[in-house]
Amino acid sequence: MSQQIKIFDTTLRDGEQSPGCSMNLNEKLKMARQLERLRVDIIEAGFAIASPGDFESVAAIAQTIKDCTVASLSRLVKKDIDASAEALKNAVSPRIHTFIATSDLHMRYKLKMKPEDVLSQIDELVTYARNLCPDVEFSAEDASRSDRDFLCRALERAIRAGASTVNIPDTVGYATPEEMFDLISYIKNNVPNIDKATISVHNHNDLGLGVATSLASIKAGATQVECTLNGIGERAGNAALEEIVMALKTRRDFFDCTTRIDTTQIYRSCTRLARIIGQDIPNNKAIVGANAFLHESGIHQHGVLAKRETYEIMTPESIGIVKNNIVLGKHSGRHAFEDRLVSLGYQLPEEAIAKLFEKFKVLCDRKKDVSDYDLEALVESTSHTP
Ligand code: KIV
Ligand code: ZN
Repeated sequence: MSQQIKIFDTTLRDGEQSPGCSMNLNEKLKMARQLERLRVDIIEAGFAIASPGDFESVAAIAQTIKDCTVASLSRLVKKDIDASAEALKNAVSPRIHTFIATSDLHMRYKLKMKPEDVLSQIDELVTYARNLCPDVEFSAEDASRSDRDFLCRALERAIRAGASTVNIPDTVGYATPEEMFDLISYIKNNVPNIDKATISVHNHNDLGLGVATSLASIKAGATQVECTLNGIGERAGNAALEEIVMALKTRRDFFDCTTRIDTTQIYRSCTRLARIIGQDIPNNKAIVGANAFLHESGIHQHGVLAKRETYEIMTPESIGIVKNNIVLGKHSGRHAFEDRLVSLGYQLPEEAIAKLFEKFKVLCDRKKDVSDYDLEALVESTSHTP
């Protein structure tokens, strides 16, 4: 039977940590609702202790989202865990995500802690978190550069203290896909009671390998993957959600895995994020770049016209790109306008549509072609966005 992979989205936490990607409360709520429509399993809403704004965002998302688990990050210290528990108190399905580094480099120079003290802290504080929340995830930061046997001991202790998910991050995007495959296999074979926890990975993209290492980890038995829309995140970013999900779907023959994601919401989610953070998606970006489904050379055009599959391994429709013959412009009527808003995912009240239609007509006087991008920007610029 196919294995279901949990998609843990950290666009609003690790993604937001990338330069120029910060979002305000309203923007985070819009993205969280879109992530719920995308059907991610877990939304990491923020790092509650980081700032009052972060706390407020986690609390608001926890209060609003009903169909996903909502997580808040915490260092493995009491005050962080308390802040996460408090911010998550109204969530239908809360998760405290707590982490401490396990590599010699981080323990020695950053934490200035002895390995044995790190293990004791895991015992004490994972237990503490578990007493505040039934769902606790433990991350061993810099796991891919940690001594394997020490890492296994840390994971064993976290599971014993009540963690139901153990996350193995490639924090600095250093591992190769083969190394991640090996590491996950080793953990599966050497951590006592590992079958009591979900094995997760969280891979960065410093060498451009974040998606490859995530897929290799899934192949080795990880059943949760942490990722962000458009691959935004610290430094060169995190593994891109849309690439992982579409790789699993398109190559189901190879991975034999499914996800809960509604892939027809992918394009809308990625473009909405790009607009909110003001960072364009590169044209050649896999899955959602403007060129991803275009064919320029004559040979390719001929092939695609004869049989689409010659040069297309997935369809634009499968990620929610809707071909539309109706051109919206100043002569368009309200019906066509409303219809397009619905196809873009906006279910708005009558009165909001009426106001937007007026703004749309003003825009048409300025712009010859009004694209879906323009329409989304128009809706986003109002307070009506769901
Ligand atoms: O990259 C990393 O190790 C992290 C952890 C906090 C999960 O973001
Ligand atoms: Zn990270």
